[in-house]
Amino acid sequence: MDLEAKKIALRMISSGLYIITCKHGEEASGATLSWLNQASFTPPMVSMGIRKESHTHALIEKTKKCAIHFLNREQKDIAETFFKPVELDGTTLGGLEFEIKTTGAPILKGLPAYIECEIKNQLDEGDHTIYLAEVIEAEVRENVPSLGMRDTPWHYGG
Ligand SMILES: Cc1cc2nc3c(=O)[nH]c(=O)nc-3n(C[C@H](O)[C@H](O)[C@H](O)COP(=O)(O)O)c2cc1C
Repeated sequence: MDLEAKKIALRMISSGLYIITCKHGEEASGATLSWLNQASFTPPMVSMGIRKESHTHALIEKTKKCAIHFLNREQKDIAETFFKPVELDGTTLGGLEFEIKTTGAPILKGLPAYIECEIKNQLDEGDHTIYLAEVIEAEVRENVPSLGMRDTPWHYGG
């Protein structure tokens, strides 16, 4: 295979930029996520790829729950904050205030929308686990265009 072509072609897959959060007891994680897709109408489901070596993966394995947040196009700085593991400090994660709602996953304040999810199944073939998660809660605070990878110079994979 032409590895350069493989890289460029895979980077042509459109993706958004989201923040995934999880919490188990006194441990919490938050990470920028791009490998997210819709996977079912009924029940509503999403699929996502989570790197096996990450803290988020470890916490999802324990709780089988997560929250996924949408960013507006001016919130690249928040996506950048969550490129690296973030600190839990009282009721802030990566410097953003959060609250706990249905699943126990941190719900970050100041972001336009989020969904809360319960993991239903997974595939562990590669270096990321593909999780299939049911959407059990959703809130839209501001219905605005969401940040996409194409709005940035960044890539993940390829
Ligand atoms: C643009 C971009 C997109 C990313 N997308 C994903 C992704 O879809 N899945 C994933 O597991 N990590 C993704 N990452 C990497 C995580 O955001 C990063 O490893 C994070 O620090 C993991 O935090 P944690 O170890 O606390 O879970 C992405 C990173 C960048 C820069």
